[in-house]
Amino acid sequence: MSSHPSLSGVILAAGKGTRMKSETPKALFRVCGLPMAELVGRAMSEAGVDHTVMVVGHQADRVKSELGYQYAYALQAEQKGTGHAALMAQSALEGRTGAVLIAPGDAPLLDGESLKKLACQHWESGAKATLATCVLTDPHGYGRIIRDSSGKVVQIVEEKDCTPDQRAIREVNAGIYCFDIARLFEVLPLLKNSNAQGEYYLTDAIAEIAANGTVETVEFDALTATGVNDRWQLAEAEAQLRRRILRGHALNGVTITDPASTYIGLDVEIEADVEILPMTTLVGKTRVATGTTIGPSSCVIDSQIGPNCRILISHVHGAIMKEGSKCGPFANLRPGAVLGEGSKVGNFVEVKKATLGPGAAASHLTYIGDASIGANTNLGAGTITCNYDGFSKHRTEIGSDAFIGSNSTLVAPITIGDGAIVAAGSVITSDVPADALALGRSRQENKEQWAPPWRERKRRPTE
Ligand code: UD1
Ligand code: MG
Repeated sequence: MSSHPSLSGVILAAGKGTRMKSETPKALFRVCGLPMAELVGRAMSEAGVDHTVMVVGHQADRVKSELGYQYAYALQAEQKGTGHAALMAQSALEGRTGAVLIAPGDAPLLDGESLKKLACQHWESGAKATLATCVLTDPHGYGRIIRDSSGKVVQIVEEKDCTPDQRAIREVNAGIYCFDIARLFEVLPLLKNSNAQGEYYLTDAIAEIAANGTVETVEFDALTATGVNDRWQLAEAEAQLRRRILRGHALNGVTITDPASTYIGLDVEIEADVEILPMTTLVGKTRVATGTTIGPSSCVIDSQIGPNCRILISHVHGAIMKEGSKCGPFANLRPGAVLGEGSKVGNFVEVKKATLGPGAAASHLTYIGDASIGANTNLGAGTITCNYDGFSKHRTEIGSDAFIGSNSTLVAPITIGDGAIVAAGSVITSDVPADALALGRSRQENKEQWAPPWRERKRRPTE
């Protein structure tokens, strides 16, 4: 790449997206978890773009705050067409030389490879403009590519401006271009808006450049260039990108039993020999190490899952599971949950901001919040950390090798020492020293032979 001149990028994302029928600007609609404009931005950086200008207009502040500082922004206050939008990027490209890639913000399937191909063709041919084209069976709605008898591109005519003959052309403009920066900003101010839509068309810059130079083309497959204009196209783009992500993981050695019911976000990292069972969603900044099996019916968000773990029918959010730990079925790991090596969280157990040491276990019906549980400690069924007094949260600290009997209530703040035993059914309100037995329940009383006379009284008919 170093021998190539510098490559800038412009993403046109000022439009409202009327057909989305939404308060949300089109550029912010998400596909596989990321805003469409950001997906285009990623494709640009993958292609080697080191300076990307996002042209914003409709709800500009919202778009900027959601997309963040990774882009330079240019404002197109009024949407006067794609040519006008590109012109608005001029000052943000001040001092840049070489080529600029221009793409619409609503092409979520655009990938770095395709853009790179466009840029390389542009450099190699020495053209002042290179555009991506597609050959479609149904070209309806797209600008048509008009070539002369020698096959050179002459101009692009929008659907609404086409003659019947032009309308029959199936080679269309994908809306993705590579321009020589200097030439682009020479021609953009010359554009006229004398067309069916009264807009300044970026496509007319192509005609202008073709008039005294060559315009090159690169054919893209129709899928890559797909533009999203309504919510059905959004759903279709989602399905496509999802399959692309799943396929990538599968080819990297991940077993995906049922692609149709598996959802994996773009930023999820999965090592080889992981198994994803049906109806499972992995999203956000999630990492999964080798040998782990997740699913069926599990959801993992922003979590770090170590090697050889098992997640079965569970919800895992903001959690860390270390090597060989298990959760589920029906576990709820909430932010700050840390399961140590080989630890186990079973059915109907909720863990929040709490650490289980290596080998610790809470196998059934338990709430562990704001707590630390030492190595090899066992929490019996129905153990509850009472972490909240209605005003603030308090911590429960349990040492290692402790045993908490079933249905115990641990009223925080509280500390239970290493090796301590809490009797089943206890309400523990004061600290338990190491190796002590704590009984926090009323003593049982048995009344010998109490039952028979009671039953006799019950059976006697009342007069
Ligand atoms: C455009 C092309 C058409 C091509 C098609 C491919 C023009 C005139 N036509 O048509 O040849 O086949 O893309 O999808 O360029 N935008 C702005 N400001 C504006 C207008 C548009 O930022 O003033 C942005 C939109 O937000 C959108 C992109 O530019 O992301 C494309 O605009 P759109 O109106 O959808 O162009 P098309 O009619 O699809
Ligand atoms: Mg349009």
